[in-house]
Amino acid sequence: MFRTNTCGELRLSDVNKTVTLSGWVQRARKMGGMTFVDLRDRYGITQLVFSEDSNAELCEKASHLGREYVIQATGVVSERQSKNANIPTGDIEIIVSELNILNEAATPPFTIENNTDGGDDIRMKYRYLDLRREAVRKNLEIRHQMTMEVRRYLDSMNFIEVETPMLIGSTPEGARDFVVPSRMNPGQFYALPQSPQLFKQLLMVSGFDRYFQIVKCFRDEDLRADRQPEFTQIDCEMSFVEQEDVITLFEGMAKHLFKTIRGVELTEAFPRITWHDAMKYYGSDKPDTRFEMKFVELMDIMKGHGFGVFDSAEYIGGICAKGAATYTRKQLDALTDFVRRPQIGAKGMVYARVEADGTVKSSVDKFYSQEVLQQMKAAFAAEAGDLILILSGDDAMKTRKQLCELRLEVAQQLGLRDKNKFSCLWVVDFPLFEYSEEGRYMAMHHPFTSPKPEDIPLLDTDMGAVRANAYDMVINGVEVGGGSIRIYDSELQNKMFALLGFTPERAQQQFGWLLDAFKYGAPPHGGLAYGLDRWVSLFAGLDSIRDCIAFPKNNSGRDTMIDAPSVLDPAQLDELNIALNLKEGK
Ligand code: AMO
Repeated sequence: MFRTNTCGELRLSDVNKTVTLSGWVQRARKMGGMTFVDLRDRYGITQLVFSEDSNAELCEKASHLGREYVIQATGVVSERQSKNANIPTGDIEIIVSELNILNEAATPPFTIENNTDGGDDIRMKYRYLDLRREAVRKNLEIRHQMTMEVRRYLDSMNFIEVETPMLIGSTPEGARDFVVPSRMNPGQFYALPQSPQLFKQLLMVSGFDRYFQIVKCFRDEDLRADRQPEFTQIDCEMSFVEQEDVITLFEGMAKHLFKTIRGVELTEAFPRITWHDAMKYYGSDKPDTRFEMKFVELMDIMKGHGFGVFDSAEYIGGICAKGAATYTRKQLDALTDFVRRPQIGAKGMVYARVEADGTVKSSVDKFYSQEVLQQMKAAFAAEAGDLILILSGDDAMKTRKQLCELRLEVAQQLGLRDKNKFSCLWVVDFPLFEYSEEGRYMAMHHPFTSPKPEDIPLLDTDMGAVRANAYDMVINGVEVGGGSIRIYDSELQNKMFALLGFTPERAQQQFGWLLDAFKYGAPPHGGLAYGLDRWVSLFAGLDSIRDCIAFPKNNSGRDTMIDAPSVLDPAQLDELNIALNLKEGK
């Protein structure tokens, strides 16, 4: 038997018991005639003690234990003289009488402690060592608890878990596909699923009524802190439902998760905001509502006073940062530089402080009378000590997005983005289509999303105004999930394809099987997918979803530990009938 107990288990009530523990040496230190070893496993750390007086040879052996050696120790539990209140086993130690080295270890490239000296790259290369650190392991434990609770909740609601294939054809979720060559079908490729969207719809046609799956999805897109090329969805679909049914059920699941994982009881219904209002007041379809600072539009007040930048702008809008009039000139210049960064693209920023006596002092005072500035102050309901920041531009949507970045930055600086505060909301009434940079309408969610029935006539007259039966859940500015009610009528689905520029032949070729399925009695259905990684990182207070994924990719999509992706052996390429045609410089 390797162990009688774990390293996190023993307490004062176990004193005088003879126990055997196995684990890793966190550190060994010799002090006078004693050697102390911190022994670690998944459950905690227990102090082992070796004394020269009782066994000089064993004490000497223990003093040479290297970091991360795997050992087994047998001894008697005893009360510690100098207790360690920081760990649950801190009241006891083991007086060791037998020591067995199970495996030696090379010196690890970084310290296996919460405050490690290892940088990101080295920790990713040796991820299996990084995962020994409590701080990282905790995130995976939360992930495990979450998937357990998800299954518990959905099972209690009659959902059944069904696996869908990974080697499929293209699914139109808007990103590029990862593709897999087929050896048995030369020149042909599978695509990995961007989501199980179409399969879950087919399961509804099959009468499964309520489906879920905790499933890997693959998207070849630019990576960010909240995006990985392979990530996990809690994917769900339901039959005979309307938008309200789906929202109610999944809001219930969100509340269940908050309660069981974070101990937070959310009793109120989550607020809802239309996509239109989200863009107008926050410049984002995933607004961070932990704090107010809503946009105020100033076109009526600020135009026509001789300030050329504003006079020619299509949009002028600003935010009011409570109590931030203390911002120095230097801080304001830094904010101006921030909005001017190419990724954000604003031309400049106007600011105004509300002084203690209520007067407004702005960076454009020479164009505006105090009377106009007071009107502006009133529009923000600003008070003494507040700071107003204003952006303007030719394109309202672009300027709102810039103002959104400014709002988030200022909130960050003012400490308003508290990781222990949660603000949940639904964004509803998304447009069905968005106008793309290529100059055509694309599906905003995916082409299977149903229009609001009352907007169907607009499909022929004003595509841009058609609203979708689609909804996203947003927490603290993170889109944690999204879904829609689907089209279940093959006529309407055909029409959608036509509006999106598919010829009937191409629609038939790519989605004929789905259109066929709809001919055999498709029930009204809809669903949603939550992003598991994003949920876990919110609950664990992480800055990146990478930290809650056991073996994540870096920002170039690489796994540096196993060194993937990598080149294929010529023989393997040959077998797949693939010849490489690398462009210059690749
Ligand atoms: P959507 O594309 O909105 O919807 O994805 C659902 C949720 O998955 C998460 N997510 C991601 N997480 C990490 N990395 C990524 N690259 C990534 N992309 C998406 C987000 C998002 O809200 N089939 C539809 C769902 C439906 O209509 O039922 C879908 O995939 O949290």
